[in-house]
Amino acid sequence: MWRGLNTQLRWIALELPLSLAHPMENIRGADMQNHLTIVDHPLVQHKLTHMRDQTTPTNHFRQLLREISQLLAYEITRNLEMSAKTIQTPMCEMPAPVMAGKKMALVSILRAGNGLLDGVLDLVPSARVGFVGLYRDEETLKPVKYYFKVPAQLDQRLVIAVDPMLATGNSSIAAIDMLKEAGARNIRFLCLLASPEGVAAMKVAHPDVPIVTASVDEKLNDQGYIIPGLGDAGDRMFGTK
Ligand code: URA
Repeated sequence: MWRGLNTQLRWIALELPLSLAHPMENIRGADMQNHLTIVDHPLVQHKLTHMRDQTTPTNHFRQLLREISQLLAYEITRNLEMSAKTIQTPMCEMPAPVMAGKKMALVSILRAGNGLLDGVLDLVPSARVGFVGLYRDEETLKPVKYYFKVPAQLDQRLVIAVDPMLATGNSSIAAIDMLKEAGARNIRFLCLLASPEGVAAMKVAHPDVPIVTASVDEKLNDQGYIIPGLGDAGDRMFGTK
């Protein structure tokens, strides 16, 4: 039943009232004109299956998350702005491409974001790193900031916010609100799994922030967990609970 469902889910996700131009445009490649990119590369999907499996132990889960976040990082950085730098090869001089502008900022939404952060840093080791900590107020159910530390000159950087699970979208939306208040103008959001509800909420709150993910799953349950999902990402990666 789950086989083939992922394909359907792409359409479900993309048929949300989001007025996306053409769903197929959103599936492959990250040209960042689209709000949602699902990375359906076999390596990503294979690793994700092992992460979903409840018998996968903590150390293997963490390793898989690191590997998959490298692959997702590859997609989310696909169309970075480039400039030319003159270098000398052993044979001749050439104008060679290098990434343009200020160093990128990666922002981890604590605590589970740290699991994605390491893999992205493997690929972009010179990136600056920030952290946003939020907890949910039990009365208002709204996210409350308890920690916020980000690199300077956010307005001049590409900011990639990372959080493995885009579930209700509340904390991701709040974190991106804070990044915009801090000056960020060019933000992308990287997650491992998303719910259709989370994608829709992000589209409404931050239509300018493209999302790259490995899968949009079926739904959220009453407790705000993604179904089928992989459980609590933080607990699975840190062996808590
Ligand atoms: N956070 C998680 O860790 N898992 C979910 O399914 C939803 C939110």
